[in-house]
Amino acid sequence: MSWDLKEAIDYYRRQGAPGDQTALRNLLGEIQSEQGGAIPKYLLTAAAEGLGVKESYLAAIVRRIPSLRLADHHVLEICAGPNCSRRGKLAAEAEQYAGKVEIRLVPCMRQCGKGPNLRFDGKLYNTADAQLLDRLIREADR
Ligand code: FES
Repeated sequence: MSWDLKEAIDYYRRQGAPGDQTALRNLLGEIQSEQGGAIPKYLLTAAAEGLGVKESYLAAIVRRIPSLRLADHHVLEICAGPNCSRRGKLAAEAEQYAGKVEIRLVPCMRQCGKGPNLRFDGKLYNTADAQLLDRLIREADR
């Protein structure tokens, strides 16, 4: 089963987060671990919303704890499920942006009827194509 932010938040809420600093620190550490060593901004935003605290508060905690760090790049997730893969060639299109953004091929996003699908910094886009990819990357560069 894949990792899920909402489940993680629910778990650490039961441990006392966001009031309990240890539980909060452990949640941030788990997010970082699941994301390969840094916390993407969009997940910090989502965690803040899920916990009912300000994003700036979580960011301050991340800065204060040496073992935690924020990612300084954008994350592009391409659905590599069978339906999206059949309809488009997004993964191949995305290769030209390697180095500008982190590209991940992820399992079915459970939006098969609306594919091809991608997520950019956590936001889902349906009926994605090369033009959308280009626009997202250009806007992210600004
Ligand atoms: S295959 Fe892409 S959402 Fe299911």
